[in-house]
Amino acid sequence: MKEVLAELERRRAIARVGGGEKRIEAQHGRGKLTARERIEVLLDEGSFEEFDMFKVHRCTDFGMGDSHIPGDGVVTGWGTINGRTVYVFSKDFTVFGGSLSETHAQKIMKIQDMALQNRAPIIGLFDAGGARIQEGVAALGGYGEVFQRNVLASGVIPQISVIMGPCAGGDVYSPAMTDFIFMVRDTSYMFVTGPDVVKTVTNETVTAEQLGGASVHTTKSSIADGAFDNDVDALQQMRRLVDFLPMNNTADLPELACYDDPARVDMSLDTLIPDNPNKPYDMKELILKTVDEGDFFEISPSHAGNIITGFGRVEGRTVGIIANQPMVLAGVLDSDASRKAARFVRFCDCFNIPLVTFVDVPGFLPGTAQEYGGLIKHGAKLLFAYAEATVPKITVITRKAYGGAYDVMSSKHIRGDINYAWPSAEIAVMGAKGAVEILYRAELADKDKIAKRTKDYEDRFANPFVAAERGYIDEVILPHSTRRRVSRALALLRGKQLQNPWKKHDNIPL
Ligand code: HXC
Repeated sequence: MKEVLAELERRRAIARVGGGEKRIEAQHGRGKLTARERIEVLLDEGSFEEFDMFKVHRCTDFGMGDSHIPGDGVVTGWGTINGRTVYVFSKDFTVFGGSLSETHAQKIMKIQDMALQNRAPIIGLFDAGGARIQEGVAALGGYGEVFQRNVLASGVIPQISVIMGPCAGGDVYSPAMTDFIFMVRDTSYMFVTGPDVVKTVTNETVTAEQLGGASVHTTKSSIADGAFDNDVDALQQMRRLVDFLPMNNTADLPELACYDDPARVDMSLDTLIPDNPNKPYDMKELILKTVDEGDFFEISPSHAGNIITGFGRVEGRTVGIIANQPMVLAGVLDSDASRKAARFVRFCDCFNIPLVTFVDVPGFLPGTAQEYGGLIKHGAKLLFAYAEATVPKITVITRKAYGGAYDVMSSKHIRGDINYAWPSAEIAVMGAKGAVEILYRAELADKDKIAKRTKDYEDRFANPFVAAERGYIDEVILPHSTRRRVSRALALLRGKQLQNPWKKHDNIPL
């Protein structure tokens, strides 16, 4: 028996070194952890249970029959994050560049199937070069099956991808179908084809960083929802994110002990809005002063800064926050902001996370760049997302809520449950200047007359009371009481039941 146990340990030891000490050294030399080290940081200590440690590929082409490495380039299994189950697969770049073979795909598929069947989140740690070239169509078939499972799991269990090395081909397409993608600065890249292929096909010379580094994907392309400085930081932040998420689409919201009084008032909010309506202020201050202990996990902070999206908690329970940011482009809704917020709203609705929306929006961004870029359809995505959402929806208008953007930002008309406004709210078709210029075009030369017209318009519309008189605003509230109001509204809506008519699926304007 002793020898049998020793044989198991010997085999395990071989599997644990993956592609060998030299490649592990190279991995560390690039500032990256190995696949197993990453799992250790991500999961609770000692909680990881591995599957398929001894699985090897079956390919014999291109000399592959002579090189079998147990585990075949991916470490898979399950463990816990702060006691809650998650399934994990972690690509091992030291084994054939983490590339995906038929058997490597089977390992991932097993984890995907288990995660879906047992309704727990799945996290993929990517550091890999896509389909294993030596395996040809067998590898492509493997990816197809992984993609199919990504789609079936979408909206049922949270799927998170962390890009931690150079990733290409299927190793970017599978993440693209998950809920969130995060990257590590300076060591991770995402592209469908790498710089060498780009040079051959288009004659463009680009570095990996220029083609698909974290700076590109968290800003320009918006493929990634955030980036972190190193592997350890990224993995620890994933632990933080998972704490906010329900296990699946029928599970309760996670509930943490709350040491922050839900009735806490914050008098400084009474002076947050500047006297000059055109002066910006930082909406993040309101978010941080509303959520428990100022703990806010922002999604896509470096893209479309004119809208803020992210997770917080109120009374220990997760909420999704969407807020116009007057500090960037005056908080206007453009194509990027609309898409960013729409995707976030839909994630929250999938997983029954209540939505809290803070509104200060001067409208949609005018201009040819936006119109040619499809603003109508992108804006419609956000409108659609809010209108179809059945989760509790609480809205607080702090200042401007103009035009179509008023309707879009979780208004009463698209099933906002509780709609509050601060006394500083201005709810109107447009700002006074624009309105007067249209209504009194003939009088534009007469400055005094126009000033009076503007004042009349402001007196009539630059307030929340016209909307409140119609019941479009449930209550005009004091800014300092926002947290208390929001938390009471969330408690009120805990039992909310609302269903959309049966359909196969909707047809959101993609
Ligand atoms: C087999 C691969 C591989 C692959 C890398 N390797 N990619 N082996 N299949 N796809 C191996 C290398 O041969 C090398 O082996 C080791 O991994 C490390 O690779 P390097 O190139 O030395 O590393 P680096 O310079 O850091 O570059 C990493 C890389 C590059 C950017 C990922 O390797 C690359 O461009 N690979 C090919 C990417 C690609 O085009 N994949 C196919 C995509 S198609 P040794 O033994 O020397 O250590 C696809 C289809 C899916 O995925 C369907 C999508 C819809």
